[in-house]
Amino acid sequence: MIKSIVVAASENNAIGKNNQLLWHLPNDLKFLKNKTWGLPVLMGRKSFESLGNKPLKGRINIVISSSKFFKADGIVVVNSFRDADFFSKSNDYNEMMILGGAHVYEQIMNDCENIYLTRVHHVFEDADTFFPNLDEKKWKQVWNEDHTADEKHAYDYSFQHWVRK
Ligand SMILES: NC(=O)c1ccc[n+]([C@@H]2O[C@H](COP(=O)([O-])OP(=O)(O)OC[C@H]3O[C@@H](n4cnc5c(N)ncnc54)[C@H](OP(=O)(O)O)[C@@H]3O)[C@@H](O)[C@H]2O)c1
Repeated sequence: MIKSIVVAASENNAIGKNNQLLWHLPNDLKFLKNKTWGLPVLMGRKSFESLGNKPLKGRINIVISSSKFFKADGIVVVNSFRDADFFSKSNDYNEMMILGGAHVYEQIMNDCENIYLTRVHHVFEDADTFFPNLDEKKWKQVWNEDHTADEKHAYDYSFQHWVRK
């Protein structure tokens, strides 16, 4: 099972605060949609709650929780990464997209082959959730596309693809 991370992180690797994102970047949401459409997406219980407990449409939403009782409409709940893998494999997928948050990225990053990173060119000092350090000894950038801020995007940002070395 190929595992690919999709994440938007600031210059200081901030990804969230108070269980919310730190920015609204419509083009990043489109990027996420393009990279994940039709594929199983795995996220932590807190990230799912940050979406208002609503699944992302057009994708199989797998939510990981240690609770045997957590459930919500339109999602598959798993209690381990192994069960997420098993579910995706048994539904004939060969790629699973990992949507965070930090707790999930930290545990799974070493098992992932791709990182689709939106680098938001700003430093968020007061964030409370961070993406792990992207170690350039282990990861190689193979694509970068820069975008400048505009009326809909408060910050400059770059879409990047990193692959495991
Ligand atoms: N910028 C981005 O790209 C991006 C993407 C996603 C999320 N975010 C942000 O990240 C923040 C949320 O991240 P987070 O790190 O606090 O939480 P999270 O990773 O979304 O969820 C953590 C929860 O997932 C479950 N979990 C994680 N690993 C597990 C395991 N091995 N086995 C069983 N359950 C497991 C646990 O749920 P239980 O407590 O129910 O057991 C845990 O409390 C929010 O601010 C969100 O907006 C940002």
